[in-house]
Amino acid sequence: AALVGRRARSWLRWGRAVAVVEGFEEGCATPVGRLRQVVDAMAVEMYAGLASDGGSKLKMLLTFVDTLPDGCRDLENDPAVEISPLLGKTFQMLFSNLNSVLDEDGIYYALDLGATVCRVLRIQLGGRGSKIINHKVEQHQIPQELASSTSEEFFDFISLTLQEFVEREENGINQVPDERKELGFTFSFPVRHLSISSGVLIKWTKGFAVEDVVGKDVSQCLEEAMSRNGLNMRVGALVNDTVGTLALGHYYDKDTVAAVIIGTGTNACYVERSDALIKSQGLLTNSGGMVVNMEWGNFWSAHLPKTSYDIALDDESSNRNEQGFEKMISGMYLGEIARRVLHRIAEESDIFGESAYYLSVPFILRTPLMAAMHEDDSPDLREVRRIFEEQFQIPGISLKARMLVVRVCDVVTRRAARLTSAGIIGMLKKIGRDGISGVAGGRAKGKPKRSVVAIERGLYTNYSIFREYMNETITDILGEELAQHVVLRVVEDGSGIGAALLAAATYSSNR
Ligand code: GLC
Repeated sequence: AALVGRRARSWLRWGRAVAVVEGFEEGCATPVGRLRQVVDAMAVEMYAGLASDGGSKLKMLLTFVDTLPDGCRDLENDPAVEISPLLGKTFQMLFSNLNSVLDEDGIYYALDLGATVCRVLRIQLGGRGSKIINHKVEQHQIPQELASSTSEEFFDFISLTLQEFVEREENGINQVPDERKELGFTFSFPVRHLSISSGVLIKWTKGFAVEDVVGKDVSQCLEEAMSRNGLNMRVGALVNDTVGTLALGHYYDKDTVAAVIIGTGTNACYVERSDALIKSQGLLTNSGGMVVNMEWGNFWSAHLPKTSYDIALDDESSNRNEQGFEKMISGMYLGEIARRVLHRIAEESDIFGESAYYLSVPFILRTPLMAAMHEDDSPDLREVRRIFEEQFQIPGISLKARMLVVRVCDVVTRRAARLTSAGIIGMLKKIGRDGISGVAGGRAKGKPKRSVVAIERGLYTNYSIFREYMNETITDILGEELAQHVVLRVVEDGSGIGAALLAAATYSSNR
């Protein structure tokens, strides 16, 4: 009888663990119907954000980038009408402008400040049409304390990182002494631009909280730090990481109309017609178009499948009620969502043993570790066991429990990847490129246009299940035939190289 009692109790506990996971799974459901509602909500919010400042949680920030590099052009054989027919008439000037813009030889630098790493780059442009002749990238880990340092410490750190790189690179190269250099500054936070090369920080995201920077012109802060440190450089272009990625994406492929970053944080930008920029009426661009930084991390819609774990995560975050979409889909948060579910399982049952203290520590499960468990393809889930032992000090959990862990990771990742794809299609829908809706909202006539979306960062590039779910979802939403016209293309180092290309273009056009 004692044995039977023990077994019954153990089934009961197991049942409670499974119930936690099932409840979570149900809350995260993303059937195609719901995804289509997210698609529509994204498009609607884009209109609202373009209509007025504060009109939507989507800030739809103007970037003042109205020309995109085009590396495929061969000027000798080009009657200056080398434009992408897919972008339509209003963009003709945009691309023909580049004839004059990017015909300089030269060395340009970029500083790409991400959430966890800071990249410094040097690119050499040459030849008419400005091909990238070569480029060099160096990556430096950002010390965690920097995220909560003072403004001066913060800008000194990044300017010194750049200075050391420039000195190493220029050592021995015969440069005109003291010639001022042009810099592309990739600053991956929401910025209200004053011009292509300046703008004020609206708020910090991704856990950053450097004192006294909100409301300041970040290009000026960097230039002051550079001059304090004796570096003779000027910010030629201040760009979001998505915008740099779009610029390089377009350099490679003229059908590139948008860019998405899906890493620690997430965001998207795209090329918009200037007559759609209602809130800035009167702002004329040379090209008739402008790149808009959506700041889609802050997107919100009642159609998003939100669970009690998401609510608790948001409540305990430093930016409550903000970046709701980012908190569901980006790398900073996916591991943490899974950790919260695993912790609940440990509270409800003993399938992870008696002491599961470490599962209660916020952010102890980083997304790359979660991905490693999810992608463990060994038959006995060895990697899951190892991570539980090493990271959470929980030895020897059963195979059944390990399988449940993998299921939790899968639910978190699948929801995130599917919502990311719905966001992309929403963005394409707004510009009449989802193949379903025409520009005027009706059904498009003729063949759908090929639309390339440049994409970057770890969740897409390093996490194959995430990538597969994303690709599959594009087909789920659009159907096989239309999905063929949407190409997600990885653009490596785009955020930095693209910023340098834009700095070069700005420099040339101002001369
Ligand atoms: C955050 C930032 C945004 C950036 C994104 C990806 O959402 O607010 O500007 O593009 O992270 O790095």
